[in-house]
Amino acid sequence: MKTRYLSTQDSDIRLAADIIKDGGLVVFPTETVYGLGGNAEDPLAAKAIYAAKGRPSDNPLIVHVTGAEMARRYAAELPESAEKLAEAIWPGPLTMVLPKKPVVPDETTGGLKTVALRCPAGEAVAKLIEYSGVGIAAPSANISGRPSPTRWEHAAEDLDGKVDAVIQGPPCIGGIESTIVDLTEEAPAILRPGLITPERISQVLGVPCGYDPAITGPPDAGLVPRAPGMKYRHYAPRAAMALFSGPPENVRRAIGARAAELSAKGVRTGTLIYEDGLSAAENLFADLRRLDEEGCEYILASALPASESVNYSVMNRMLKAAGYNIVEV
Ligand code: TXA
Ligand code: MG
Repeated sequence: MKTRYLSTQDSDIRLAADIIKDGGLVVFPTETVYGLGGNAEDPLAAKAIYAAKGRPSDNPLIVHVTGAEMARRYAAELPESAEKLAEAIWPGPLTMVLPKKPVVPDETTGGLKTVALRCPAGEAVAKLIEYSGVGIAAPSANISGRPSPTRWEHAAEDLDGKVDAVIQGPPCIGGIESTIVDLTEEAPAILRPGLITPERISQVLGVPCGYDPAITGPPDAGLVPRAPGMKYRHYAPRAAMALFSGPPENVRRAIGARAAELSAKGVRTGTLIYEDGLSAAENLFADLRRLDEEGCEYILASALPASESVNYSVMNRMLKAAGYNIVEV
């Protein structure tokens, strides 16, 4: 198929919306990462998304909506907690898991009786959903196993010829995928960490919010994550990767020494050292793709201190990218 490249002008967004209404696939910008979207009410669109991405179809898709009102079309009920979070955080990088209505096909939810709903930020995506007149089911717009795309060019690298259109929007400022919170149980639980922290959710709801225990350790700990996607080794660069953890001085010295050693052996080495969690989130996936492109064979990265929840969210991605290869220094 020939992929059309569209701008964020109103007339182009209308074209993209027509593609969605006709059952086609569109790559679109959000504040977190680019999405690969289709009509959330159409089981064939869901199948086409799984095929384009090369993704197992038991891994459910997030349904993107324009707000709480549209969420009611897909959620069997919107509990008070969901209303409060939507009011405080949407549009923004928060996805809520709720019981689904029958209008959401099993293909979209990977057979689950719940649906993940998110109202993303950004003018282009808001218009795209509005003009489509339906929720847009979308995973991140990467081939399964590659880092999520934070620029349209990255999505195009993976999906050119496999989707009907790509909207050439701005680079993503968030840079890691949305926080997923499960609201179907008594207490809210985070199924995937992101820029919306458990502290923020607790503050809005006035109750404690923890992490799904399965996501806080390596995948071999024997716990089954409640967000099916969390069981896969995402974000894998082609290069091997090691994460150095310890006092900043030690980390810098150890990375320098190891880089010199590897270079002396002729191994192409890249380093990743971030100032803080937010800039790490914004740049990590683009940096991993760039190092791959440069033919880097070994990535030496500095771990972020566990003191802040945002750091924890980025470390969740870095640990997966590094296959949990941590070097204490
Ligand atoms: O920021 C984001 O969330 C981006 C943009 C495009 O919105 N989307 C995204 O989608 O990251 P994806 O498909 O790469 O990740 C969706 C995650 C998976 O881990 C999936 O298992 C989980 O959401 N998920 C979807 N529906 C679920 C449900 N009903 N219950 C539990 N987890 C669910
Ligand atoms: Mg993804």
